[in-house]
Amino acid sequence: MKRREVAIFMEYVIIKHMKTEIVTVDINNIDEKLMERAGVLIASGQLVAFPTETVYGLGGDALDPEASARIYSAKGRPSDNPLIVHIADFSDLERIAQEVPIQARKLAEAFWPGPLTMIVRKNDRVPYATTGGMDTVAIRMPNHPVALELIRKSGCMIAAPSANTSGRPSPTRASHVAEDLDGKIPMILDGGEVGIGIESTIVDLTEEVPMVLRPGYITIEMLSEVLGEEVKLDPGIIASDDTKKPKAPGMKYKHYAPKADMIIVEGEEDAVVSYINEAAERKRSEKVAVAVIAAEETRERYCADIVLSMGRRSREDEIAQHLYGILRQCDELNVGAIFSESFSTPRIGNAIMNRLLKAAGHQVIQV
Ligand code: TXA
Ligand code: MG
Repeated sequence: MKRREVAIFMEYVIIKHMKTEIVTVDINNIDEKLMERAGVLIASGQLVAFPTETVYGLGGDALDPEASARIYSAKGRPSDNPLIVHIADFSDLERIAQEVPIQARKLAEAFWPGPLTMIVRKNDRVPYATTGGMDTVAIRMPNHPVALELIRKSGCMIAAPSANTSGRPSPTRASHVAEDLDGKIPMILDGGEVGIGIESTIVDLTEEVPMVLRPGYITIEMLSEVLGEEVKLDPGIIASDDTKKPKAPGMKYKHYAPKADMIIVEGEEDAVVSYINEAAERKRSEKVAVAVIAAEETRERYCADIVLSMGRRSREDEIAQHLYGILRQCDELNVGAIFSESFSTPRIGNAIMNRLLKAAGHQVIQV
């Protein structure tokens, strides 16, 4: 750790119990005074958690290395894992990128504000503390009135990872943020439940061929259609072993994981239901509490202690929206084993399964 990082770490040891103010923001009638207060916190190097359309973020001034160090410290995140810089105006991209690739203009036009993060080469304005030592920077314009207002009121670009403790599922409600960060940051803006529920798609524009480093709501097909060229998926995130390293440092960490052992069961509906019911029965005889994660359409076919519904399979947006909340619920209910159906839905199935497979440590049974 560098001297400054040590100082900030010590600050947390000393102020172990900072009082965290949790304030409700009406997204249809945003309180200007409140947002100004939140903006001042950011501008003075402090942290504010805020809603975006994907998940809640933990924000700090992106150009202030001390604010970035505070983010890493509050999350318990390894400092080689770079942060996403949130902007409210396209011209901010020009302020921090070495050059703006034509693809970035096209994608911003099509998808910003929205759940898409672009990686470009950074210029000297962006401190290495924010990019985890990398010469590139991840940038996104979120599509949420509270996020955009916070950026504008602070007069800063806001570095924000998901507002969870490192390794825990990303927060989709303010109460999830409070579970992880209460006492560690001065303010949480509660804008209600988020709309999308999984983190933004990340596309790397620094190489010859654009490459998706993290799948999300914006699919490869959508990117490719706008760009009129091929877009690849990082081979490192498909591998279930360590043979290929993912290009986004954050994708290599065990992530989103509930505490209990989790297994995904794949196959025909009848076979999946009987396998899970038998396995749950066996666990019960061993006095292990079991949770089953199922779609709304099939939930009633399970006879386990706890059956959690992800939403209707026919409405894949619901599945994405509920995923992280359900993983957190499994922790709260203190179950010993989790069996989950597979959710390879048509459009964003890749993005959903990427998170679910990580949560299960890639334990999949085909029946
Ligand atoms: O939807 C989202 O993107 C949310 C909301 C708050 O905006 N943010 C989020 O941030 O998910 P975080 O820090 O949890 O995930 C950022 C991911 C990490 O996997 C990180 O390694 C990767 O982006 N990343 C950031 N900068 C990068 C860079 N320059 N090169 C490669 N990967 C990068
Ligand atoms: Mg995260």
